[in-house]
Amino acid sequence: MATLPPIKTAFTEMLEVDYPIIGAPMFLVTYEELASAVSEAGGLGAIPLPNFRIPEDLRDALKRIRQATQKPIGVNIHLSGKFEWKKQLSICLEAGVKFFITSLGDPRLIIDDVHANGGKVFADVVSLEQGLKARDRGLDGLIAVGSGAGGHGGRTSTLVLVPYLRRETELPVIAAGGISTGAQMAAAFCVGACAVVTGTRLIAADESRAQKAYKQAVIEAGPEEIVCTDKITGNPANWLARSIASFEKRPELGSKKWLDLWSAGQSVAQTESVKPAGQIIMEMVQDFYNTCRRLSLYGNDAPELLRMPDDRG
Ligand SMILES: Cc1cc2nc3c(=O)[nH]c(=O)nc-3n(C[C@H](O)[C@H](O)[C@H](O)COP(=O)(O)O)c2cc1C
Repeated sequence: MATLPPIKTAFTEMLEVDYPIIGAPMFLVTYEELASAVSEAGGLGAIPLPNFRIPEDLRDALKRIRQATQKPIGVNIHLSGKFEWKKQLSICLEAGVKFFITSLGDPRLIIDDVHANGGKVFADVVSLEQGLKARDRGLDGLIAVGSGAGGHGGRTSTLVLVPYLRRETELPVIAAGGISTGAQMAAAFCVGACAVVTGTRLIAADESRAQKAYKQAVIEAGPEEIVCTDKITGNPANWLARSIASFEKRPELGSKKWLDLWSAGQSVAQTESVKPAGQIIMEMVQDFYNTCRRLSLYGNDAPELLRMPDDRG
């Protein structure tokens, strides 16, 4: 696919990437192959550190990413104390990771070290309360996780949450939840986002480590099949109904049983086939430019597009 012009936003300038698209960190799905493919295509690939419970595995994965791409990458770091976050942080900083998404725990634990190494710290938030707390703790920006997102989605629609958090916190806001096409990305930018996170669409990437049946289920499902429940992890999250139909008990951390519980968001509606991640990113960029062109027709060149049906003489 041809290279397309960069899309410049505050985020792409901050992270020095071509496109304001973050390939979501996804537990048991995003490993080095997927993250490096997204970064190499011009987005920002991010791995979730809980996928690498042994520090040496993380070091090796980051080495493999560096062999595949020299472009920036990100990580999702859990600061709850369940993982060896201090070791993980120093391995990531050594490998030149520039973008940290914190979840659980206090982000102040890492901010100074990340800033000293020229990086940025953002946090996933689902509400204004979380957004204000993150701002007061000195974060560089927020990821507004709206309803219908894969993983732990919020309860507020992405297109409402982004401008709300932007206005109330005045921080840069990245949109997450239900964004898998360039048109959806354009909508997020219209309401003030400086970048988007796309997760569900990338479950069905060649490079994702989701099992074949999981990818197929994401392709087959419509948004009606996505159910939000807290019974699996203890917090509200979105799941493919078919994978949790016979769920009884939460598996232990590290158990293989997690592989059969398939999280996904409502973007299953826009996920129609398995493709290389780089192609998915470039199709989003192409669709974004097509959308901008289409929108520019509103107004002068095609006034009929603006008329309500009743106005048509
Ligand atoms: C299978 C799956 C696993 C996820 N695991 C994580 C995770 O470990 N850490 C994290 O920060 N977000 C996780 N997420 C959330 C994504 O990073 C992202 O916010 C979300 O997928 C964006 O919404 P979308 O799925 O509608 O594109 C996960 C999402 C999915 C679908």
